[in-house]
Amino acid sequence: MDLLIFQEILCETRPLVIIETGTAAGGSAFFFASLLDLLGTGEVVTVDIVDECHVRHPRITRFIGSSTDPDVVEQIRVRVHGRPWSSLILATAKSMSSGKWSCTVPSSL
Ligand SMILES: C[S@@+](CC[C@H](N)C(=O)[O-])C[C@H]1O[C@@H](n2cnc3c(N)ncnc32)[C@H](O)[C@@H]1O
Repeated sequence: MDLLIFQEILCETRPLVIIETGTAAGGSAFFFASLLDLLGTGEVVTVDIVDECHVRHPRITRFIGSSTDPDVVEQIRVRVHGRPWSSLILATAKSMSSGKWSCTVPSSL
């Protein structure tokens, strides 16, 4: 159901950049990149503290590190810089301590 909703949001908003926190194996990043292929524009910028993603796609740019690390935030900011504001931000990182979903979107982006 989530993927169907994301698909509708992407088709409506046609984001130039999607920032995803929590790449994991890259399943959702690849799904979003494939949708952007159909839309003909856009990039997925995805970040994770672990490097376990073996998915490769020309629309996916990966960063390794914490989405709350200022250095990582700066790298993502530079990557996004110069393009219109990212119209969709996905916070998929899960708090390891609480086990609850948490929003770890860099506030400076
Ligand atoms: C449920 S998984 C993400 C699922 C993924 N989007 C997919 O398509 O399967 C949550 C991920 O968030 C990552 N994560 C947790 N805290 C993070 C943080 N502060 N910054 C970046 N990634 C984080 C974890 O390493 C884990 O891979």
